[in-house]
Amino acid sequence: MRFTITRTIAAQQKLSRRLAAAGKTIAIVPTMGCLHDGHLALIRRGLRRADVVVTTIFVNPAQFAPHEDFMRYPRDTRGDLKKIRAAGCQIAFLPAARDIYPDDYETYVTVENLTQPLEGSLRPTHFRGVTTIVAKLFNIVRPDVALFGIKDYQQAMVLKKMTADLNWPITFIICPTVREKDGLALSSRNRYLSPEFRLQAPALYQALSAARQMARNGQRRASDIKRHMRRIIALRAPAGTIDYIAFTEMETLRPTRLVEKNTVVSLAVRLGSVRLIDNMKIA
Ligand code: PAJ
Repeated sequence: MRFTITRTIAAQQKLSRRLAAAGKTIAIVPTMGCLHDGHLALIRRGLRRADVVVTTIFVNPAQFAPHEDFMRYPRDTRGDLKKIRAAGCQIAFLPAARDIYPDDYETYVTVENLTQPLEGSLRPTHFRGVTTIVAKLFNIVRPDVALFGIKDYQQAMVLKKMTADLNWPITFIICPTVREKDGLALSSRNRYLSPEFRLQAPALYQALSAARQMARNGQRRASDIKRHMRRIIALRAPAGTIDYIAFTEMETLRPTRLVEKNTVVSLAVRLGSVRLIDNMKIA
């Protein structure tokens, strides 16, 4: 099918209906644009799982708190469309904010418990915005398959739960994190790292890798591993401020004191005005 850009909800709904009537399966890759290889990996995986991939680009105001970087969030629509098209994705959905959230908008979707710890404890309104936009995108695009990155670990778990709880007949696929050669997880916000902070940013991956190694060596106490991770970050990213380092059971996000099967370590570190998050399953 020819590469198609839809810019209104009505146009995308019509196209999705047409595809379904023709018996085509649809995969959705929701993004906020400024696409990198992490996003493109989701698109490629989607193309293997469905006949048509719809990549959505929408910088969602509802998931940014007033003091956060909504206005400063990077935007590059022309570059994004080129990349999407080159990856073989057939449809780009770029709705306008006033179409998604008209002035009288008042309905929100919330996942109650999984949104409380980690990112949710520091960004209390964030996940309500994420679940609401993804619910709306699911309803507009009507996908058979949805793809998200484990890079945003808590987001992936929250959205997986929402999809199950609300009975969408959507196959939910979580893809691995794509990294730079030095381990830094790709992120649209990395471009805002100064050269000095960019050199310090791989400290997150180094700390996570050390945690995995300690777990492999038989160290089981989260507190001991955490202490070692803090030392690595202090040494390798002296400008970094740690928001949290957390050990949780993968799906439930329950904190774990001992490393057990399905333990995920996640962390958030601020380097100047850039906030980096990363995670790794260590057992
Ligand atoms: P965004 O940050 O643009 O990410 C879009 C998707 O790409 C998410 O599923 C995210 O986990 C995935 N992703 C980001 N970096 C990645 C990497 N290095 N490797 C693999 N996947 C990666 O996450 C959002 O947008 C928004 O919250 C959204 C879900 C679109 C709702 O607005």
